Amino acid sequence: MVLGQPSMDGNLGVLALHPRGSGKEQLELLWQLSRSSSMSAVRYALRNGVAVLHVTSPPVNALGAAVRAGLVASMERALADSATGLVVVGDGLTFPAGADITEFGKPPMEPSFGEVMRAFEDADIPTAAAIHGTALGGGFELAMSCHYRVMSSCARVGLPEVHLGILPGAGGTQRLPRLVGADAAAEIMVTGRQVSAEEALALGAVDAVVAKADLEAEAVKVVEASPVRRTKAVLVDGFKDADSIAKLKARATLDAPKSIIQCVEAAVCNDMQDGLAFEEARFRELQGSTQANALQHLFFAERACSKVPGVSPEDAVDVRAAGVVGGGTMGRGIAMCFVDNGLPVTILETSADAAAAAISGVEETYRRSSAFKRGRLTEEALTAKLNLLSSASDVDALKDCDLVVEAVFEDMAVKRSIFADLDRVTKPSCVLASNTSTLSIDGIAGAVADPARVVGMHFFSPANVMRLLENVRGARTGPAAVATAMAMGKRLRKTTVLAGDDFGFIGNRMLEPYGRECLALLRHANCGPELVDAALLEYGMAMGFFQMSDLAGNDIGYAVRTSLGLTDAASRDPAVEYSADVADALARAGRFGQKVGRGWYAYETPRVPSSDPAVAELIAGFKDASLAPDVTRGDVVDRALLALANEGFRVLEEGLALRPSDIDVVWTSGYGFPRHRGGPMQWAADDVGLAEVKATLEALHAARPDVPYLKPAKLLADMADAGAKLGDWEKFL
Ligand code: CAA
Repeated sequence: MVLGQPSMDGNLGVLALHPRGSGKEQLELLWQLSRSSSMSAVRYALRNGVAVLHVTSPPVNALGAAVRAGLVASMERALADSATGLVVVGDGLTFPAGADITEFGKPPMEPSFGEVMRAFEDADIPTAAAIHGTALGGGFELAMSCHYRVMSSCARVGLPEVHLGILPGAGGTQRLPRLVGADAAAEIMVTGRQVSAEEALALGAVDAVVAKADLEAEAVKVVEASPVRRTKAVLVDGFKDADSIAKLKARATLDAPKSIIQCVEAAVCNDMQDGLAFEEARFRELQGSTQANALQHLFFAERACSKVPGVSPEDAVDVRAAGVVGGGTMGRGIAMCFVDNGLPVTILETSADAAAAAISGVEETYRRSSAFKRGRLTEEALTAKLNLLSSASDVDALKDCDLVVEAVFEDMAVKRSIFADLDRVTKPSCVLASNTSTLSIDGIAGAVADPARVVGMHFFSPANVMRLLENVRGARTGPAAVATAMAMGKRLRKTTVLAGDDFGFIGNRMLEPYGRECLALLRHANCGPELVDAALLEYGMAMGFFQMSDLAGNDIGYAVRTSLGLTDAASRDPAVEYSADVADALARAGRFGQKVGRGWYAYETPRVPSSDPAVAELIAGFKDASLAPDVTRGDVVDRALLALANEGFRVLEEGLALRPSDIDVVWTSGYGFPRHRGGPMQWAADDVGLAEVKATLEALHAARPDVPYLKPAKLLADMADAGAKLGDWEKFL
């Protein structure tokens, strides 16, 4: 690289300079280099003596090295120009939304965040942030380093670093308590929530709220009329509400929220310098930790999963009207997703009475919701939603729909007959989706003249609450149908993943060996559902396997297994079906779960599981004296979750998931896998290590060679042998 001619990547150019030259020379060179890239990242203008800085770094004006250098250089220029004040604004959609997360894990690049914040706080001219969009993380910290903050009425501020396993490391833990008090600051940072303009003003986080159109002009007026005022000069009182802080501390079980509370305590006790040093030390401990890596992995995973190679979002059909076939629990939930996002929807049922019942069921669900009870959903807004909803018992009512989602029970013949009817009445451009969780999309598409318009859209129950949408591409599904299903996921604000068309798709396919291993554990003398569930809860799963089964209904799996001939002792493979015996016996005893008040647990109080001696008795008949009698919680985690991750590698081998991170998204968004472990693939690769995963599975498989799901998947074995990283998986296919 030639000095003075920055590379396209100004950051790399800066890094390349570091090993040479004295500190002062390096700084000079840094500024020379950064100026050309940073000056395009931060535009400088002097207006009537006030310096106005526009941050221009799409899509979210993240504070990467070029922006940071541009901010510092612009501040220097404003002082050299004898500006009377300085205003910083974000171009485009938002004020900076935080540090550039893609820089995490790379060698630090100058100038540091601390340097930027100091430049703005210590300036001898008044500085103001003009906030629109979402001023998050380092962006809000920059605003707090300014002497004044003016906010557009629809903007939001927040410090969401906790969701990335870190803490606000650019002075946020010290400045927010100085602006809003220790209690509110701790709550905002531990939850990572976004704060509205109205609340930010009431708390004292900002000085004025104005219309977006007046934002920059109002911020200029503020610096023209006000003196220098530094946040660091404010003293912080201690916590006021002991109960709330105790509750917050109890919730703070992960490393990042714990450290955040300690930093707020440091802000109370220390002057700014000491507080900042404390914050920096805690930040360094968190960044690069397993929890931070996992959460940052999910940040990018949840954005990558909506992208399908070879399918352009522009291929999506413009959906103006939707239909839902079936007004049961799933159909109603899916219809609610549509109306919640302003899309008119018609529910088709088999009779006028059933159709009317579906509509009144939806209304009742809204009225029972906490949003309605607490006034967040007003009567007027509810009426507007219900006005988007209609029902019918004649399939012709769906003729103008652009998307129809079928949500009837899992019966191939019934589904095919519905799709044949839809094929007859709907427009050729209408995308036909099935909400099936197990049946073949190709099988359903066979009932339609143009199978390219058939796709799976697997919502999770309750559909209006659960974040995950697992779309399914059949062998003949066309790009328009895929693009429409993916675009609809985004519009419904779901985390949307594309799966291939095989039994159980991604999520339920992996649930199978996970569940079987949980059942197999019951064969050991000391193991009951309580031990398995306690181990999984301790690991961080939202629910234990047996609690989940009781919630979902133990009759459902039994019915599916019966339809596949797997509950018939005469026709099934005893080695493979060994572990399911006990589940079949439970279902035959009528212990269907929460809905009947008894399953793997007893439910004397609805939804509260308690141990039931009758279950212990039932399990006793399935104990295997040849197995170790003393399973530990660690054994449970190893066996259940390594069987799960192993199946994830098979899912990748078979092309059912586009990338390992999609599997992690499915399990963290739809199955309660703990986010701070990143998902089964990230956990196996980053936390346990592939070599150890392989070795443990080999040992388990050697002990039970008849159990196919314990054999390490070829992809896993090859990657482990090569010492490969998860990101290199495609090279091993
Ligand atoms: N750094 C790098 N890239 C970012 C980013 C960031 N902080 N925030 C968003 N992006 C990228 C996304 O990866 C996405 O890229 P692709 O289009 O290539 O997928 C693009 O910007 C748009 O993001 P979204 O799809 O999320 O857009 P949205 O409109 O739905 O949401 C948002 C916008 C609310 C800003 C959301 O992106 C968001 O919450 N971003 C993260 C904010 C955050 O966590 N900030 C704190 C960073 S850590 C920090 O600041 C540490 C510190 O103390 C200094």
